[in-house]
Amino acid sequence: MPEPRIPHISTNGKTLLTITDSYVDPDFAARYAAAVDEAPYNALYERPAMLALLPPVADRHILDAGCGGGWYAAQLVGRGANVTAIDASAALVEHARRRLSSFLTGDSARLRVRVANLAEPLAFLTDASVDGVVSPLVLHYLEDWRPTLREIRRVLKPGGWLLLSTHHPGADAARFPSSPYYETQLVEDDWKWVGKVKFYRRPLTEIASALTDVGFVIERLVEPRPTEAFRLIDPDAYRRLLQQPEFLIVRARVS
Ligand SMILES: C[S@@+](CC[C@H](N)C(=O)[O-])C[C@H]1O[C@@H](n2cnc3c(N)ncnc32)[C@H](O)[C@@H]1O
Repeated sequence: MPEPRIPHISTNGKTLLTITDSYVDPDFAARYAAAVDEAPYNALYERPAMLALLPPVADRHILDAGCGGGWYAAQLVGRGANVTAIDASAALVEHARRRLSSFLTGDSARLRVRVANLAEPLAFLTDASVDGVVSPLVLHYLEDWRPTLREIRRVLKPGGWLLLSTHHPGADAARFPSSPYYETQLVEDDWKWVGKVKFYRRPLTEIASALTDVGFVIERLVEPRPTEAFRLIDPDAYRRLLQQPEFLIVRARVS
């Protein structure tokens, strides 16, 4: 059976990005949505570290760029934000809509959830209409971050922020030793709890350059430590994470 793919995206006849992504497969999406909120690497490692860097969001318009099953969108709405949540996977958008149904209706709905590909222009958002963007564990599915970051910058207000997490380049380099560190390459991993996933590994320089090239200033760069709750659940993985971070978190602002 052919691998589910989001087709090549073209703007003005030019291919921006190619995305190979398991998340569009409804079965994969269902497995992911059912497990991710309990998965220690998310619940007890990436998410606490991201929330620690989240600027105030009450009454602000926040874009959740790659919302998956909607955990971050729920956190943002719960903190009083007006949220636009987008994801390329229609299946995961449905999961998010189900989770967040109570926030989606009524005149004062503070949440919109829609299918959208971050490799395409965010035409449904006007210039300088967003206060902040969270993009948790999403951007490594994009080969070149620049077109997407340019769009994020366009929709952000002056002084607006982007809070992202991604795979740590060192962890990817250790996992894929035959892949030259300084190149951006498509790799495939097999996550036992959900299935095979393809993503792009890239050097730290490329992460920083993509942000600064399009006009972001890096404000915080964090290699998160696992929480005490993680140690209690999986002491071996906890020890490994203290030796080698798996994720990298960056908060950047429009310069
Ligand atoms: C690891 S999941 C993270 C989901 C969510 N941010 C979270 O932390 O729970 C990656 C998400 O990125 C989405 N994604 C991948 N490529 C995308 C693209 N080009 N545009 C929008 N979403 C994309 C996937 O569909 C999936 O929901």
